[in-house]
Amino acid sequence: MLERRVFVCTNQKSGVGEDVAKAIKKELKAQDLKSVVLNGEKVRTQVQTCNCLDRCKHCKKGPGAAVVLYPDDVYYNSVQPKDAPRLVQELAARLGL
Ligand code: FES
Repeated sequence: MLERRVFVCTNQKSGVGEDVAKAIKKELKAQDLKSVVLNGEKVRTQVQTCNCLDRCKHCKKGPGAAVVLYPDDVYYNSVQPKDAPRLVQELAARLGL
């Protein structure tokens, strides 16, 4: 089984990171992408909150949260809950779905 993770920084005063993490989790479920089978192998994607992703300029004082896809090593800055559908679509595209 392959594990993929979406790390979301929650170290903003606004608390937007918690809302972003919830929105991404909800969208993964809505798009049925929490767990998929690719080439016979199960691929599971989990959302995990964290305290900092070293993108503070775009996160701590900005309108959204920093997000990173692992193991893709793709960073997103200033992510807001409304961005969750697009982010999850991009995640699916990276899986070739
Ligand atoms: S405080 Fe969010 S990336 Fe540092």
